[in-house]
Amino acid sequence: EQKAEINRHQQVLEKAQARYLALLRDSQEAIAYLKQRGITGKTAKLFGLGWSGHDRSGLKQVFDHYDDPLLTEAGLVIESEDGRRYDRFRERIMFPIINAKGNLIGFGGRIIGKGEPKYLNSPETPVFNKGQELYGLWENRQGIRQEGCVLVVEGYMDVVGLAQQGIGFAAATLGTATTPNHIQKLLRTSDRIVFSFDGDGAGRRAAWKALNVCLPFLRDDISLRFLFLPNEHDPDSFVRELGPEAFRKELAQSRVLSTFLLEELASRHNLSEAEGRAACLHEARPLISAIPASGIRTQIENDFAKLVSLTSAELLADLARFEEAAQK
Ligand code: GTP
Ligand code: MN
Ligand code: MN
Ligand code: MN
Ligand code: MN
Repeated sequence: EQKAEINRHQQVLEKAQARYLALLRDSQEAIAYLKQRGITGKTAKLFGLGWSGHDRSGLKQVFDHYDDPLLTEAGLVIESEDGRRYDRFRERIMFPIINAKGNLIGFGGRIIGKGEPKYLNSPETPVFNKGQELYGLWENRQGIRQEGCVLVVEGYMDVVGLAQQGIGFAAATLGTATTPNHIQKLLRTSDRIVFSFDGDGAGRRAAWKALNVCLPFLRDDISLRFLFLPNEHDPDSFVRELGPEAFRKELAQSRVLSTFLLEELASRHNLSEAEGRAACLHEARPLISAIPASGIRTQIENDFAKLVSLTSAELLADLARFEEAAQK
């Protein structure tokens, strides 16, 4: 029954997608917008980009029953307080969101020109869970396999803009923080993950949160890295302005998780004072304890012990006390 529900949703989404594709082919302004952002027809096709048009109820053209509750459930149609119905997506470049099985499960839409919100997503539905899905994972699956690496970015346009420049191995969270579910999906796709966040304060905070979510998944046979782009660039603007070689150079200089962890912990405390070192230890305990027993945990323990002027044995004893107390 669940399966039937999913199929019903997919059918209406596919029908809408066909219209969005056809509208883009006929829209000079939408094509001009993508051109101005450096996106060619080939890349637009690869990602199935579309255009929602301007009409308040344009989807009436493809659905005989515009008042079908399934259309509101699927998030294509919105019902206002007074019962009037209209299309959710208008004047937007449409990004179809495809899950790991290749099924269309929702849309993201970017407004052309000014207007709020800049991006609008499908609402949560039985087939669409924002905290689990990654945009681009399906379209870039081959690139990810070839590269042996998946690049995690913040935005739809980062995925598309990178692919346009030959960096076809990115995937984006859908405007939510990174979740354990994301990490599991990503690790199923590749054993090397590079998180790339915008080069601003928000990007740095998002990276720190992602690191926290990664800790329980650490293993010695996976590689997790963090990339911070300079000058407030996001991956899309960086690669457009400076090109794919410059982006690959940044990739090569991305920081391994252990370095980001230790540098960030160090930067938050005054390690020349005993109190600062103790506060640093206090902050580090739950983080290190979240890492499963492994070679990488041992390495991080050794490096962190030096940072706060403890012997490794002292740190291990401290962590053991902490973990025991946490279990009670
Ligand atoms: P461009 O301006 O098109 O280059 O977008 P961007 O991806 O660089 O935007 P930004 O860095 O601000 O946002 C990153 C991601 O966060 C987007 O791709 C969206 O998924 C999400 N996002 C941004 N703005 C909004 C918004 O207004 N509403 C929602 N729901 N999500 C947003
Ligand atoms: Mn923003
Ligand atoms: Mn940002
Ligand atoms: Mn951008
Ligand atoms: Mn951005």
